[in-house]
Amino acid sequence: MAEPIYVAKPYLPPLEEFFPYLEKIWESKILTNGGPFHQQLEQALCEYLGVQHLSLCTSGTLGLVTALQALGIQGEVITTPYSFVASAHSLLWNGIQPIFVDIDPDTLNLDPKKIEAAITPRTTAILPVHCYGNRCDVESIRKIGEKHGLKIIYDSAHAFGVRDEGGSILRHGDLSVLSFHATKVFHTFEGGAIVSPDAATKEHIDHLKNFGFVNETTVVKPGINGKMSEINAAFGMLQLQHIDAALAQRKEVDAMYRRAMRGTTGIRILAGSAESENNYSYFPILVEEEYPLSRDALYQALKEQNIHARRYFYPLIADFPMYRHMPSASPDNLPFATIAARKALCLPIYSALTEDEIERIVNIVNGVWPCNRNPSVPLKSVAPSCEIQ
Ligand SMILES: Cc1ncc(COP(=O)(O)O)c(C=O)c1O
Repeated sequence: MAEPIYVAKPYLPPLEEFFPYLEKIWESKILTNGGPFHQQLEQALCEYLGVQHLSLCTSGTLGLVTALQALGIQGEVITTPYSFVASAHSLLWNGIQPIFVDIDPDTLNLDPKKIEAAITPRTTAILPVHCYGNRCDVESIRKIGEKHGLKIIYDSAHAFGVRDEGGSILRHGDLSVLSFHATKVFHTFEGGAIVSPDAATKEHIDHLKNFGFVNETTVVKPGINGKMSEINAAFGMLQLQHIDAALAQRKEVDAMYRRAMRGTTGIRILAGSAESENNYSYFPILVEEEYPLSRDALYQALKEQNIHARRYFYPLIADFPMYRHMPSASPDNLPFATIAARKALCLPIYSALTEDEIERIVNIVNGVWPCNRNPSVPLKSVAPSCEIQ
């Protein structure tokens, strides 16, 4: 059996590059509580991402939970069912009722045209997700938020480094939350961050993630322990030195996939938004009716060859037991999300994925219904003019 290929492989810089960071931690004996690496990484990420204020935390999930706390969100929040389950779980952890609204069939992000019909007197916020790192329709969502006095918290777990014509997409909304989980483009083993629009909001979040302490003896809120440790923050500093190279390699992988499958009948590749700078965090394909196999059969065919694609996002969040009784979770309310959950398959993508491995994957996808690419031409040298479908 050939070597396994997983959907993601964490980027790890050479181990010896991490030793000096560890030595510093051992010397200082500062292991957490907003130590020097924590401060450095917050600063460095603000500069790299092009945002003003950022609070590190222990995970994206905890970032979402804390962001909702920071804005005092209650009642009902409109969100997408087509995401990782943590998006909606963060609402339940705050005693908030998620209201699921369907997605746009082209972007697979929350469809702004359907949001207003779901607003009730209890609605206080919208929690959209930049799914697969593809930008939400931030302008339409902003207008709806303004018109109805709703806060907007973006789940930007997939969107590290994604930009639009005006800069980082993390600047949109009242708060934006990143995940630095091991499978993400930029990771700190586990970790996350909340991007705030102003210093006061960041300070408030910093108190919340530190049990609510504002000084040695004063606690202003029932906060939580959400502080990123020095070891994770130090790793983030090292990771940041390699991130541009890792993103460039991902871009090549993405381009090779697109070239190799551009003529494959029944395989739809999501277009990244033209004006945005993508991060190539996922490579979702949609297995359409014309393809000779169902999505699940293709998933199995890959698995039999030790290739572990993932059916993100199946099942829909709305189909999990703690959500499915909710009226907004009904498949009738979510026709496009229901279809996407049945068709989507995320192929492996990571910076170390080799051309041979990509060939192995696309040969299975295309082998079922061969594309019109000449297999003797290496993927890298296929003319860019026929890149994207
Ligand atoms: C869309 C989305 N939101 C939230 C999370 C939660 O992030 P974390 O794993 O860092 O808690 C993840 C992923 O892991 C995710 O994919």
